[in-house]
Amino acid sequence: MKIEFLLNGETVHVEGESPTRTLLDYLRETRGLTGTKEGCNEGDCGACSVMITDSDGAKALNACILFLPQLHGKSIRTVEGLAAPDGTLHPVQSQMVDHHGSQCGFCTPGFIMSMAAAHQNGDTNHDDVLAGNLCRCTGYAPIIRAAEAAATNPKPKHLKSDKASKTKTLKSDRTFVPKTSDELADWYVENPDATLVGGATDVGLWVNKQLRDLSPIAFVGQIEDLRGIESGDGGIAIGASVTLSQLQKAVAKKYPSLAELIRRYGSTQVRNAATIGGNIANGSPIGDGPPALIALGAQLYLRRGDDIRNIPIEDFFIAYGKQDRSPSEFVIGIAIPDQADNLKCYKISKRFDQDISALCGCFNITRSGDKITAARIAFGGMAATPKRATAVETALIGQQWTQETITAAMTKFSNDYQPITDVRASAAYRAQTAQNLLQRYFDETQGHATNVLAVTP
Ligand SMILES: Cc1cc2nc3c(=O)[nH]c(=O)nc-3n(C[C@H](O)[C@H](O)[C@H](O)COP(=O)(O)OP(=O)(O)OC[C@H]3O[C@@H](n4cnc5c(N)ncnc54)[C@H](O)[C@@H]3O)c2cc1C
Ligand code: FES
Ligand code: FES
Repeated sequence: MKIEFLLNGETVHVEGESPTRTLLDYLRETRGLTGTKEGCNEGDCGACSVMITDSDGAKALNACILFLPQLHGKSIRTVEGLAAPDGTLHPVQSQMVDHHGSQCGFCTPGFIMSMAAAHQNGDTNHDDVLAGNLCRCTGYAPIIRAAEAAATNPKPKHLKSDKASKTKTLKSDRTFVPKTSDELADWYVENPDATLVGGATDVGLWVNKQLRDLSPIAFVGQIEDLRGIESGDGGIAIGASVTLSQLQKAVAKKYPSLAELIRRYGSTQVRNAATIGGNIANGSPIGDGPPALIALGAQLYLRRGDDIRNIPIEDFFIAYGKQDRSPSEFVIGIAIPDQADNLKCYKISKRFDQDISALCGCFNITRSGDKITAARIAFGGMAATPKRATAVETALIGQQWTQETITAAMTKFSNDYQPITDVRASAAYRAQTAQNLLQRYFDETQGHATNVLAVTP
């Protein structure tokens, strides 16, 4: 199997490497490109950030949780290749110098690469762009000032050569990088014990931290027919390999609260890699995608061989670690039915950025006049699976939209959930907060300010 990519403008072929060799290890150990740093080795710190260009354009990704086959046909830029061939620094590099954006320098290459990717895209939301890069000594103000100053400079010409190339399916003994879901379906029937890899933001940790052997392995991120988003009269259809960054853009107008929830999901680098298919298939009780999709009444599409079936997404999550998915069956996508936007999603975590939810509540309550005609409420972090609050919904439907109704419905959360205490929150905190979030939804409909980030003096 020959993996091909551009590395700092030069074509590279890689053969004979393990399919779970990370880009970070390859860069540092095989290529001697030690500018890309290893901090956490689990996608949290951004020290290993590199710029990857594919058919969707330039993006920052964490090299520590990127496997080499995921890079087939793409272009990689590391900090060593960012300056122009004549040595002229990239604008983000020279502005970091001018604004004293570096002290010990360990985090600096990662910051530089995140800033360079944002510069390529004209993205000036520097707080979001850099939320996945940790700096222990400089402090963020000089770095943000450098990013702001660089934003007005033109894109360097030498980065124009960073492009995706047309590639074909890659296959070896126990590794498969298909281009179509038909190919995957056939191969997966033959290899039912295989591990599928989407963005590797979960699977990368199985390799780096648990030292697991995942063979045979199929990479689904390059399957063209799983990467589409289609909006029509019936709603929005989203392929399993759509990344969280792509989804955030696609739903920003129709469901702004969902887009805002996705902004709180990991970091820019994590959202650029993580797929919605992986976020559902991992069955995590604290994943942020499922509660929102359950509240929106999404259907989940699954395929095994030639058989395709769809189920309400909440039925997929059977018990902790158990999903309604048979051997050789994979997620092909979801469909969100068209509806008026009544969705509000609330992510509660210890940190604002780059943190896993202690709980995540999504409310989709429809009213006609003052009467509640429909309610779909779902939470992550409150049970062993993402789960609907059917008792609360029943207490709401048919009632008037008043404080009395809300107060009565709040007592029903204990029928739906018996949360646990863990490192993220106590059971009592979770139980109380879930109730408070219903109150918050009600208060927002009454025009009360509830968003602490929006509070002004
Ligand atoms: C630093 C960091 C921060 C994170 N923050 C968040 C967060 O805020 N919120 C959150 O919800 N999650 C978070 N995660 C977890 C992770 O990003 C998500 O679960 C992610 O969506 C997984 O998607 P992926 O494509 O990377 O999945 P992968 O790691 O590739 O795969 C995950 C699982 O899904 C399976 N799979 C993948 N694609 C398919 C498919 N098409 N069909 C069937 N099975 C499939 C894999 O076999 C595996 O079991 C974070 C992870 C990291 C490393
Ligand atoms: S080393 Fe920390 S994100 Fe990769
Ligand atoms: S400059 Fe030292 S960690 Fe950022």
